[in-house]
Amino acid sequence: MATVLRSLHLLMILYISSIPLNFAQDKSQFIYNGFSQANLHLDGIAEILPNGLLQLTDSSNQKLGHAFYQLPINFSTISSLSFSTNFVFAMVPQEQEPELGGHGIAFTISPSRSFNGLESQYLGLFNYSNNGLTSNHILAVELDPVKSPEFEDIDNHVGIDVNDLRSLESAPAAYYSNEERRNISLELQSGNRMQLWIDYDEAEKLLNVTLAPIRTPKPDCPLLSTPINLSKIVLESMYVGFSASTGSVSSHHYILGWSFNKSGQAQSLDISRLPTLPPRRKQIVLIRALLIVAVVLLITITGAAYYFWRKKYEEVREDWESEYGTHRFSYKSLYKATKGFKAKEIIGEGGFGKVYRGTLPSNEQIAVKRVSHDSQQGMKEFVAEIISMGRLRHRNLVRLLGYCRRRGELLLIYDYMPHGSLDRFLYSNGRKHLNWLQRFRILRGVASGLLYLHEGWEQTVIHRDIKAGNVLLDAEMNGRLGDFGLARLYDHDTNSQTTLVAGTVGYLAPELTRTGRATTYTDVYAFGAFMLEVACGRKPIERMGMPEELVLVDWVFECWSKGDILRASDPRLEGNYVVEEMVLVLKIGLLCSHVNPVARPSMRRVMQFLNGDADLPNIPYDSASFGTFTSSETFDFLWSPPSSFVQSSDPSMSSTVSILKSG
Ligand SMILES: *[C@@H]1O[C@H](CO)[C@@H](O)[C@H](O)[C@H]1NC(C)=O
Ligand SMILES: *[C@@H]1O[C@H](CO)[C@@H](O)[C@H](O)[C@H]1NC(C)=O
Ligand SMILES: *[C@@H]1O[C@H](CO)[C@@H](O)[C@H](O)[C@H]1NC(C)=O
Ligand SMILES: *[C@@H]1O[C@H](CO)[C@@H](O)[C@H](O)[C@H]1NC(C)=O
Ligand SMILES: *[C@@H]1O[C@H](CO)[C@@H](O)[C@H](O)[C@H]1NC(C)=O
Ligand SMILES: *[C@@H]1O[C@H](CO)[C@@H](O)[C@H](O)[C@H]1NC(C)=O
Repeated sequence: MATVLRSLHLLMILYISSIPLNFAQDKSQFIYNGFSQANLHLDGIAEILPNGLLQLTDSSNQKLGHAFYQLPINFSTISSLSFSTNFVFAMVPQEQEPELGGHGIAFTISPSRSFNGLESQYLGLFNYSNNGLTSNHILAVELDPVKSPEFEDIDNHVGIDVNDLRSLESAPAAYYSNEERRNISLELQSGNRMQLWIDYDEAEKLLNVTLAPIRTPKPDCPLLSTPINLSKIVLESMYVGFSASTGSVSSHHYILGWSFNKSGQAQSLDISRLPTLPPRRKQIVLIRALLIVAVVLLITITGAAYYFWRKKYEEVREDWESEYGTHRFSYKSLYKATKGFKAKEIIGEGGFGKVYRGTLPSNEQIAVKRVSHDSQQGMKEFVAEIISMGRLRHRNLVRLLGYCRRRGELLLIYDYMPHGSLDRFLYSNGRKHLNWLQRFRILRGVASGLLYLHEGWEQTVIHRDIKAGNVLLDAEMNGRLGDFGLARLYDHDTNSQTTLVAGTVGYLAPELTRTGRATTYTDVYAFGAFMLEVACGRKPIERMGMPEELVLVDWVFECWSKGDILRASDPRLEGNYVVEEMVLVLKIGLLCSHVNPVARPSMRRVMQFLNGDADLPNIPYDSASFGTFTSSETFDFLWSPPSSFVQSSDPSMSSTVSILKSG
């Protein structure tokens, strides 16, 4: 039972697979765009490659191959003998000796599918004894790149052979270009695909042979147009196909597609559907080389990309930093938060570097300060100090959230202050200026923040750079001190030969420029200058003002000594202030600006004065006791800085400078 079923199954498969073979009812016409489904009879070394390419010969020498349509074609003289065929072929010579490719292909009409033909110049068609005999009944169109003297051949030719390899007519391979209106010669054995049309017209008794490169439409003018009386040659039943041979040198001979019609014009082949030629060794080598280049390129590019990616986010991280884990931000996270440190995100540009606004993934807003810093020396102590300051909690201090280190750069992350720095409110004309209530509140806030730095913590923290630019305003317009301790970074830069003073001109206590040592007194001095600045709405030193107005302290002192201290108040307030508070602030400002450090009040005292918990001491009536500089000469020196200036920024603002002193 099972065997019966199996044979039934087999029969069905046979039946189904035989369907494509009968595609044409008329057996005298067919078209093959590739030979996968072709009904061909093969012999010799001819074979159909898996992709449907008909390979007549391969690289073996002295071989031949035949491929013929399985069924005979009726060439009965009763009906017309006209026929039409066209095919695409390629002759691919060996790589080593491309000029020496072996022999050719012949389209053949023959009474038999079996030949006693020889290889080489015999093209697999004839042998010594039967070549030239009219009993052969063979018509062939040969594509022969080789000149065979015995057959009076020419080089690289197309010939029409009737029973004989001595061509009836032949011509060097060429095609007529319809566009250029001239003949263009072709190299048969170039490995390029070409198309050949063979048309015979019974009425005219003309055999036309037309050659062209594959993409070129059929030329108007045939290469050969030879009068032939076909009825003298053919028999009633004939086979059509190809014969090819190799000689002492070989070539691959391929047929890619073939169309034949005994009852009309042969259909054109669909070039796009033809099988592809196997890649040539040169191409393989080229493809391999290209592949290697591509792979190498890919590796290089990925490597470079990875390198730049690493470089982009590269940080400096040392063992000792492990204890600051939570304070250590990754550069990548900061890069993302600030949108790649875009210029649009810059919110400030201070003496130490640019400040960027950023948004953490948690939506928390931060300010990132990029401080360029080359030295590794003292970094450990500095970071330790910065981090410990990060633990300082006061409503009038800008909270330090953490840091990040890169080569030549330190990044400090702070709470974001939406209103920016105070100096912008004090000096910007466009901006709504601050009223006295706000100013007084800011002054008290900053004083309390500075007091906390000086006394509120286990160790005294000296701010070193108090100025309006370092006072930031939070959402409630509270003044908050920022940048504390940052000046220390430059202290650590010092070697034994030099002392570096950081701070801002106009806020620098006189003794600071002499000794280079920052103390709570120098902070108080700077705070005094800041108080006067807020009350008077002027910078501690104005470059463009009248000579007597150059130094704010001097001018306030002068107003005071003339008994009209309120003259110094900011004219923009238009007298809208509490007189007692204004006088208080101006006087404390003067007291803090005392030339003698110990004569200045401590921040605790300043707080008491501001809160009204203590009375102000008398201000000595001695102009030499106050001010930034004792003579304008010193001032000139500072404003025409020699090389001793290490750093200075925007000169229109009171800038942070660092002065190197020898000794
Ligand atoms: C060929 O065709 C002719 C007429 O069309 C017919 O008489 C003859 O029998 C055919 N020959 C063969 C072998 O089919
Ligand atoms: C040549 O071919 C003919 C028939 O096609 C055959 O009879 C003869 O034996 C062949 N001669 C040689 C030398 O192969
Ligand atoms: C092109 O070649 C053909 C066949 O060899 C010839 O008949 C024709 O005159 C040639 N045409 C030109 C323009 O050379
Ligand atoms: C053969 O070529 C000649 C000359 O171009 C032309 O007149 C004739 O019609 C052609 N015949 C066929 C069957 O293409
Ligand atoms: C062609 O050959 C046949 C058979 O030999 C002959 O009857 C006929 O007259 C020839 N035609 C021409 C035009 O030569
Ligand atoms: C053969 O010619 C006829 C008439 O021109 C046409 O209908 C048919 O498609 C052609 N067949 C092939 C396979 O070229």
